[in-house]
Amino acid sequence: MEMQKLPVNPRAEKLNLEVERLANRLVRSKDEWLGRLHLGGRAAQYDDVHYEFIGGAADVLHKKHYDKSLRLLWKGEAALPWSTFRDCNPYERELIDLAEMNLTDAERAVRQRITSAEFKALLDREYTLEQKRAIVAILSAIGHGEAYAWLVSASLLPEVKSTGAKAALTMQILEEAKHFVVMRELMQAFNVPIPRQSVWEYLLLEGALKAKGLDKFFGMNVLVESIALSIFGLLSTLPGLDVLRLFHLDESRHTALPANYFKEFPMPRWQKKSPLARLRRLKMALPALPLIMLLEAELAVLGIDAFDFAGSVMRKVTHLSERAGFLQPEEAAAQNKLFNQAFNAYCKATRPNHHYKNFMESETTTGEAELAVEREAFSLS
Ligand SMILES: [Fe+2]
Ligand SMILES: [Fe+2]
Repeated sequence: MEMQKLPVNPRAEKLNLEVERLANRLVRSKDEWLGRLHLGGRAAQYDDVHYEFIGGAADVLHKKHYDKSLRLLWKGEAALPWSTFRDCNPYERELIDLAEMNLTDAERAVRQRITSAEFKALLDREYTLEQKRAIVAILSAIGHGEAYAWLVSASLLPEVKSTGAKAALTMQILEEAKHFVVMRELMQAFNVPIPRQSVWEYLLLEGALKAKGLDKFFGMNVLVESIALSIFGLLSTLPGLDVLRLFHLDESRHTALPANYFKEFPMPRWQKKSPLARLRRLKMALPALPLIMLLEAELAVLGIDAFDFAGSVMRKVTHLSERAGFLQPEEAAAQNKLFNQAFNAYCKATRPNHHYKNFMESETTTGEAELAVEREAFSLS
């Protein structure tokens, strides 16, 4: 390409280069020493010499999480046509219009961009006030969780090594932000008061946010995400709630992140085995149990036994904990047994005709697609 090169003072050019080299040596060696002495140093875990974050490329994480998230990226406007979201680009809008042109009149009437008022009327038609309250109470537990998921995933960004892991986590941050804002509109459409966080949710979520370093992966991606995944799996087949399928799909990807990350960057042995670290994680998980008991009445309104739900959730939590290396296989089996004994003891004390049941075998996710997603998320790497 033809470009008119301008003259430059060669002495100034040389001087600038030398000044930069000298300053670079001084700044970098000062930061390196401060880093070695744990007194600060460079803030970014970034390797500009190799144009990579510390930890390298980690292309597998990049492909499994970042690329996949972008492939499966969904928009509020397309999923909830009645909402205020206008996040589709012109191509997506065109696709929606084309798809609608191929529908029959009856199909279009269902699929059509119904208004917010019409969606609210659908909810009123399908559910009693008690059922609407129960659904919102259950959803709010995870709605507040989405706020924390957003904060926790953002706070994990500087903690993970490699370009691939940071890219994966960035997609999680984006998805949690979307979950929070979309969930708010969905719950507001029910037109019933949205409850505050129960103290158990508060303890659970504050625990995940305050957890140190990669323990956040346990608190959020294993524990909270398993509860979220189970709630979405439980409700996604109900009328007007099919958007929860998309949440469910995102959460299943988030639950797989710790195991995939530790495959690239194994957790130090002391962190896996340390009784103190295990105790910290158990303490983080404990509020989940009274939380599920607190939701017993709401779940019962929808015909769901809280302990079938609890068994379904805790089995998944134990499985993911073991797979990520937070638990050894024998500890996982003992933990499942302990949970089941606790559930049965509670049921024996509160239910007149309770017979022993292995709640850990229960499955409360109902949709075929959702079950297939969970099979993939829980058995795959
Ligand atoms: Fe989420
Ligand atoms: Fe998530």
